[in-house]
Amino acid sequence: MEILPVSDESLKKAAQVLQNGGIIAFPTETVYGLGADAYNADALVKVFEAKGRPRFDPLIIHICNIGTLDKVIDLSQLSEETKRKLYLLTGNFWPGPLSLVLPKNENIPAIATAGLNTTAVRLPANKAAQKLIKLAGGVVAAPSANPFGALSPTTAHHVKDGLGDKVDIILDGGAALVGIESTVLDLSCEQVRLLRHGGIPKEKIEKLIGAVIDASAITAAPEEKSPNGGLASPGQLKSHYAPRTPLTVFAKEEIQNLPHKENTAYLFFDNASREQFKSNFESDNQYNLWVLSSSGNISEAAACLFETLHKLDALGVQRIFAQLAPQKGLGSAINDRLMRASR
Ligand code: TXA
Ligand code: MG
Repeated sequence: MEILPVSDESLKKAAQVLQNGGIIAFPTETVYGLGADAYNADALVKVFEAKGRPRFDPLIIHICNIGTLDKVIDLSQLSEETKRKLYLLTGNFWPGPLSLVLPKNENIPAIATAGLNTTAVRLPANKAAQKLIKLAGGVVAAPSANPFGALSPTTAHHVKDGLGDKVDIILDGGAALVGIESTVLDLSCEQVRLLRHGGIPKEKIEKLIGAVIDASAITAAPEEKSPNGGLASPGQLKSHYAPRTPLTVFAKEEIQNLPHKENTAYLFFDNASREQFKSNFESDNQYNLWVLSSSGNISEAAACLFETLHKLDALGVQRIFAQLAPQKGLGSAINDRLMRASR
C-alpha cells in the first residue's frame, strides 16, 4: 500500500488501477471513498471484502459530470415531476454532498446496488475526485473507505489505519472539507424520502422541492422494507460510525448532570458549553475536555467531527461523553452520527 499525494501523475496511476479492476482510496469533500469501476462486478466484490461490508448494503456511484448521469440511471423511467425535482436538485447542489437514489441503468451490476432496481448516484465537488473518475472511465462506485461500521475517514491516514494493505493506493488530498457523508435522498418513490442526513441539510432541500419524508430514523431495522421492495435504508444500521471506545451522548441541558470522571473524555459542541461544565468543579481537576467548534459554528463542527472522534478513540479512555449539536442544518447530520456512535 502506498500513500500518494494528489498530482496528475498519481491520478493517472490510480485511474489505471481502477481500469485494471483494482481498488483505491481517494479524497472527496465529504469523506474518503474506496473506489472501484462501477461496471466491473469483480472489482466491486473487492470493495465489499476490503470493508467487511454486508452485500445487502448498496454502494454510491460517483460520476464526474452531469452528462454521464444516464450511464448510471435509467432516465426513461422517471416521471416529469421526478425529472423536475432531479434537475432542481442537481442544478443547486451538484457537484456536492448529495446522493440521489434513482432507477438504475441496466448496465450497472446487481452487486453495486445489492440487487435493488435503484442506485445512488453522486457528483462530488472535490476536483481530484472528478479528475480521477474521468480518467477511470466516468463511473466509480465508492463507499466510505473505512471498515464496515467504524468511524468514517476524513484523512488519508484514517484510511491507512483502517484498511492498511487491503488497498493498493491511497490518494492523499488533505482533510475533507465537509467532513460528513453526503445526504442520501430517494427520488425513486412517489414521495421523496431522506434516507441519510448529510452534507446538504434537509431544510435546504425542502426549500427547493417541498416537504420530504424523513426515513433516516435510527430505529430503522434492516428487515424493514421500502415501497420498492428493498431495505428501508440499507446503510442506516443503529450501530455505525462507531469508535471502539464506548460513547454516550448528552444534550446541552444535561451538562450540569454529567458525571465528573477521570479516564473519560468529554467532547463539547462549543467553548461556552465546556465553560459551563468546568464551572461545576475545582479548576485544578485535569479532565480531558475537547471542543468541536470554539464559536459553535456548525460547518466547522461537522468538518472536524470524525477527525476528533478518531483522536478521542486513540486516547484509550474508558468512555467518551459527546454533546449533541443544535438539531438544525448540518447539526442533524452530526447528531445522527453521534447517536449511531453511542453505546
Ligand atoms: O459522502 C459520501 O456519500 C461518501 C463518499 C465517499 O462519497 N460515500 C458513502 O458511501 O458514504 P457509503 O457506502 O458509506 O454509504 C452509502 C449509503 C448507504 O447508507 C447505502 O445504504 C445508501 O447510501 N444507498 C446506496 N444505494 C442505495 C439505494 N439504491 N437505495 C437506498 N440506499 C442506498
Ligand atoms: Mg460509510
